[in-house]
Amino acid sequence: MRTKIVAGNWKMNNDKEQSKKLIKSLKKSIKKMPLKNTRVIVAPTFVNLSSSVKKAKKSKIEVVAQNMHQATNGAYTGEISGDMLKAIGVETVILGHSERRTYFGETDEKLAEKVNTVLEKGMETIFCFGELLEDRKSDNHFAVVESQLKNALFHLEAKDWKSIILAYEPVWAIGTGETASPAQAQEMHAFIRSIIEKKYNAKVAEQVSILYGGSVKPTNAEEIFSKPDVDGGLIGGAALHVDDFTAIIAAI
Ligand code: G3P
Repeated sequence: MRTKIVAGNWKMNNDKEQSKKLIKSLKKSIKKMPLKNTRVIVAPTFVNLSSSVKKAKKSKIEVVAQNMHQATNGAYTGEISGDMLKAIGVETVILGHSERRTYFGETDEKLAEKVNTVLEKGMETIFCFGELLEDRKSDNHFAVVESQLKNALFHLEAKDWKSIILAYEPVWAIGTGETASPAQAQEMHAFIRSIIEKKYNAKVAEQVSILYGGSVKPTNAEEIFSKPDVDGGLIGGAALHVDDFTAIIAAI
């Protein structure tokens, strides 16, 4: 049975007190939820990770990072290493978000190096990928997604995939209110699972959690999450509001 995951990517939002307050409210709002085989994750900004980890202690909430450099240390101004994240209790990192790819030029090849570091450090990654609107309009979206996965992940061995969570985020759905339909999400998730099975085997394909991201809201979460190959969501805007995020968690 695959693990269900609802993760909130806070992006560049919430200062230290706002982060602690949101975690405190979320702890309270999910306290009575059974959440069997379900993970609830939040991703604050780097500067608030340590205080957020402390705030989330002994709760059902996991705190993860939004990015990480592939080097262990060195002359990389402004960057954060895996060891630095582990030292404050962060074991999971989001990689390859479209905003990192678009604004900071992160390529599949660069991301493959980051994934290798995640594995070397015994960490876990929520790996993001997804097509642009023009890719979908030109019916090239399956080829684009396959290429992103092949270039960044298909060098891994089957045993490595226990540390990989996938997040399919069609770029045209991120922050736009233009959500992929549940059928579109299911079609792409099933395709992703099929190429993993072809590359590796049915066991690897079956066990990997594939999240959908891109304008998930309380009004659409249940239908998207009901699809057989959708194992949860990577949530942006709605994750900043405890009632909305709680409603999305309740929909898993
Ligand atoms: O990483 C999740 C994010 O990109 C989705 O954002 O605001 O469309 O839920 P949003």
